[in-house]
Amino acid sequence: MKDEESKRPYRSAAWFSKLDKDGFIHRSWMRGWPRDVFDGRPVIGICNTWSELTPCNAHFRELADWVKRGVWEAGGFPVEFPVTSLGETNMRPTTMLFRNLVSMDVEESIRANPIDGVVLLCGCDKTTPALIMGAASCDVPALVVSGGPMLNGKFRGEDIGSGTHVWKFSESVRAGEMTLADFMDAEACMSRSNGHCMTMGTASTMASMVEALGMGMPSNAAIPAADSRRYALAHVAGRRIVDMVREDLRMSKILTRAAFENAIRTNAAIGGSTNAIVHLLALAGRVGVKLELDDFDKLGHDLPLLVDLMPSGRFLMEDFYYAGGLPAVLREMGPLIHGDALTVNGKTIAENVKDAPCWNREVIRTLDKPLKKKAGIAVLRGNLCPDGAVIKPSAATPKLMKHRGRAVVFKSIEEFKARIDDPKLDIDETCVMVLQGCGPRGYPGMPEVGNMPLPAKILKRGITDMVRISDARMSGTAYGTVVLHTSPESSVGGPLALVKDGDWIELDVVKRRLHLDVSDVELTRRRAAWKAPKRDYDRGWARLYIEHVEQAHRGADLDFLVGASGAGVPRESH
Ligand code: FES
Repeated sequence: MKDEESKRPYRSAAWFSKLDKDGFIHRSWMRGWPRDVFDGRPVIGICNTWSELTPCNAHFRELADWVKRGVWEAGGFPVEFPVTSLGETNMRPTTMLFRNLVSMDVEESIRANPIDGVVLLCGCDKTTPALIMGAASCDVPALVVSGGPMLNGKFRGEDIGSGTHVWKFSESVRAGEMTLADFMDAEACMSRSNGHCMTMGTASTMASMVEALGMGMPSNAAIPAADSRRYALAHVAGRRIVDMVREDLRMSKILTRAAFENAIRTNAAIGGSTNAIVHLLALAGRVGVKLELDDFDKLGHDLPLLVDLMPSGRFLMEDFYYAGGLPAVLREMGPLIHGDALTVNGKTIAENVKDAPCWNREVIRTLDKPLKKKAGIAVLRGNLCPDGAVIKPSAATPKLMKHRGRAVVFKSIEEFKARIDDPKLDIDETCVMVLQGCGPRGYPGMPEVGNMPLPAKILKRGITDMVRISDARMSGTAYGTVVLHTSPESSVGGPLALVKDGDWIELDVVKRRLHLDVSDVELTRRRAAWKAPKRDYDRGWARLYIEHVEQAHRGADLDFLVGASGAGVPRESH
C-alpha cells in the first residue's frame, strides 16, 4: 500500500507536518535528515533494549540496523530509541520488579514522541512482556523482533542448556558428583554466542508467545541469534511495519481473546515457562481481554507436549529451529488453535503455517506420538491457595504429583540458604519444603527462587526431586515438582504465611488440590496472631511497586496500569 492510499495523516504529522514554530523545532533538532523524510511518511520507532548489562540483548544495535534497512526500503523513516533494559542474570533483587517500570518507559516513550508504528526488539526474559505491554497500552501498530536464542551449549561432547544445566551441575557439585573445577569449566561452554537462553526457558517461551499471539513474523521464535536468517527476518520486519502503519493494523486487532487462547495452548504444546502465565495475564489486562488464571488450566491442561526441549526434554532451540521451529508446531496443532487469528504480516496464523515443514520428528512430535500426553499448566486450589497456585506437570516427577508430606518452612530465601545444608535440619525426601516472603510485594518482585535446591544430605543419596511450595516464580529453565505463584502471597497474609514446621500438606495435581491439613480454628488463631513483615523499601520505584502491584493470579501488573490510554497526542511542548 502507498501512503496516498491510506488517505489519512499519520500520528507523526502532528509534529513534523506543521509549518510553524513548533514544526520548525520538531524538524530542525532532528538534524542531518533531508527535508523529504518529514513529508508525512510513516515514522517507525525501533524500541531497543540493547545493553551490555543485558548480555542476551548485546547484539541489538546490529539487529536494529537491519530493521532500519527494511523501514527505509518500504518508504518509512526509522528512529531508534532506548528504553531501560532488563538483564536476568545481573539485576537485583529480580528483573520482575522492573517489568512494569519498563512497560511504562515504553508506553510513555511511544506516546510522547512522533511515532506511527514501532518495532520492539526483545530478548532476555522480561524485555518481551515489558515492551509488548507498554506498546499495547498505546495501541499503535507494533511488531516484535526477538533477538534469537544462543547456539547450543557444548561441554565435553554433551549439549548443555542455559539455566537447566546450571541447576543440574550445581546440584551435582553439592552431591559430590562433580568437582568445582569442572563446574567452572562449564561456564564458558554454556554461553557460546549472542542470544538469549537456548532452552525452552522464559525467553524462548515468550518469543514463542510472540509468534503464537501473531505479534511476530513466522519463525521469529527459534532462529538462532547467530544465524544470518535472524537478520533477514529483522530486515523483512522493518519493511512490514511500514505497511502495518498504512493499513492501521494496530495491536488491538491482533491481541484478541482468540490470540491469547492460541498462546496458552501453544505454551502447553512447547512445554513453556510458567512465567508466561503472569506475562499473558498482565498483557491481556492492558488490551481489555478478559483472561483468568483458570483459563490456563481449562485451555491447556490436556494438550500434548509436542517438543522435546529442555527443561522438559532433551534438545535445544537451535535443534528446534532446524526441525521446523514454531510454525511446524502450530501446523501440527491444527484445529487446536484458532486458525483465523490475524498476525502482523496481515495473514492468519493458519495461512502462515499451512505448508510449514517438519524436518525432525524427534524434536517436534506429532499429535498422536507426543512426548507427553498432557503437558499444560495445572492450576491448584485449596485452603493454602484460595486464589490459585500453579505447577508445570511436564517438568515435575510423576510420582510426586500426589503427595502428603510434613512441612519444613523457611521464612525467607536468606533463611533457606543459611539452613538448607545444616546437617541438623530435620528434613527427609518425603517432606514438603515451604518458602515464604517471595511474592510480588514481599520480596519485592516475585523472584525466580521457587525451585529451591534440595538439601545436600538428600542429594547425596541420589534423590533429585521433592515437593516445594512458594509464592515465588521459577526460571523457565528449571524443573521439579514445584508449586509456584501461591496466591494471595504470604506477605499480605495469605494462608502460606500461616504454615508452620510440622504441619501436613497434601498435593494432588490430578484433583487440582493443595491443602494445608490444619483445622480452621487453628488457622483462624494463627491469622489473628500474624504480623505483616517489615517493609525494606520506603522510597522510589520499589515503594510505588509495593503499594500498587496486584497479586500473581492477576498478572502482577500495577493496578493503575490495567487498561490502555491509547496514543492520543497531548499538548505541544513549547
Ligand atoms: Fe537472558 Fe536467560 S538470562 S534469556
